[in-house]
Amino acid sequence: MVSLETIVHQKQSGGILSNTNIQYIVNGYTSGVISDDEMTAWLNAVFQNGMSHEETLDYTRAMVNSGVTLDFSHLPGYVLDKHSTGGVGDKVSLVLGPLLASCRCYVPMLAGRGLGHTGGTIDKLESIPGYKTALSLTEFQKVVETVGVSIMEQTKEICPADRKIYALRDVTNTVASNSLICGSIMSKKIAEGVQGLVLDIKVGNGAFMKSLEQAKNLGILLKEVGELYGLKVSTCFTDMNQPLGQTAGLWCEVRESVECLKGNGPDDLMAVVYHLGKSALEIAGIENPEEKLKSNIENGKALEKFNEMVFAHGGNLDGLNNPRLHKPKFRKEIFAKEDGFIGKMDTLQLGQAVVQLGGGRIQKNDKIDYSTGIRFHKKIGDSVNKGEPLMEIFCSDSERLKMGSKKVKGTIQIRGDKTINYPLILA
Ligand code: URA
Repeated sequence: MVSLETIVHQKQSGGILSNTNIQYIVNGYTSGVISDDEMTAWLNAVFQNGMSHEETLDYTRAMVNSGVTLDFSHLPGYVLDKHSTGGVGDKVSLVLGPLLASCRCYVPMLAGRGLGHTGGTIDKLESIPGYKTALSLTEFQKVVETVGVSIMEQTKEICPADRKIYALRDVTNTVASNSLICGSIMSKKIAEGVQGLVLDIKVGNGAFMKSLEQAKNLGILLKEVGELYGLKVSTCFTDMNQPLGQTAGLWCEVRESVECLKGNGPDDLMAVVYHLGKSALEIAGIENPEEKLKSNIENGKALEKFNEMVFAHGGNLDGLNNPRLHKPKFRKEIFAKEDGFIGKMDTLQLGQAVVQLGGGRIQKNDKIDYSTGIRFHKKIGDSVNKGEPLMEIFCSDSERLKMGSKKVKGTIQIRGDKTINYPLILA
């Protein structure tokens, strides 16, 4: 067996690693034989030099094999999931999971925490008082069976390698690598035991993939890995050149998701929900997917599923309607300095601002402030008058509010004409 230094050096100089060496790295870090610093060196080498197709498949396999795989084949409906490569204000999972369950699908969703500047479904769900994101596997399976949808984080048994590597990538700036993203996403989804998977690959200045070409390469990789494991995979490409919906943060995103389930969701967010939902129901072979999705929002069935899921996870539903819950102690409005149209939003910086405000982690064990967030009063293409509010930032720590307020400076660009147009659904 070659030494760890040799493996890291091989990758640093652009070499191709063998399956054995990749397994050694993944298993070694998971079991604690390889330290955070050593793993960081390897992650940096992969981040800079990439991995071949074969290496990525080996890496994903090692991640899947680091834990157990669930089996839902006894359920009387199609078992599927949706996953996003990450964005700002991307709360689609909170709406789509229950919506798909209301269409008689089963959705065992293992989601992640915030990663880099992007928000994490698990951090958002934990803002619901009592909501347990760490059920045992038996409890998770039971919620999926009885409610139809359960969203929680990986347990120790499921992809422990991804759980540990994900947390390290978050604080070492080694997220935006197609191979690392592929291993991370697909290992979790394969371990869930789903039959089908819809992937929302985000593209734009707030996504890890800045160009459609880069996103398509990732899509090919994700699909190939999924299909090797017998999954039906549909890849969707959606815009992340501005935050999705009206809020980015934690509790504020949960509240916005509930509004979506009540039929009051913003157009852009609902367009993505319906687009991904349609792909999911098509994979499941369900007829008239669009009609079903829309009617289950209108008739309240999707909201009912969300409530059932929260209840099954120990969450307090009353909290959802309590205006005092996670009420931010500090707020600041950001005003337009001129008349015009919103031409551009620096989505990466807006996501980083949410982290600065306390909505994400700068260090691995940082505590999250659930009251944190940004509410966007204007989005790209909207007209604005000088002095009108562009956005409001909020959190419960005055120092963090100051840092966040510096970070959002200049993130919204106003132009004299309304020429910029970013299509929401790219492919
Ligand atoms: N989502 C994941 O689960 N992992 C990544 O690496 C990126 C997005």
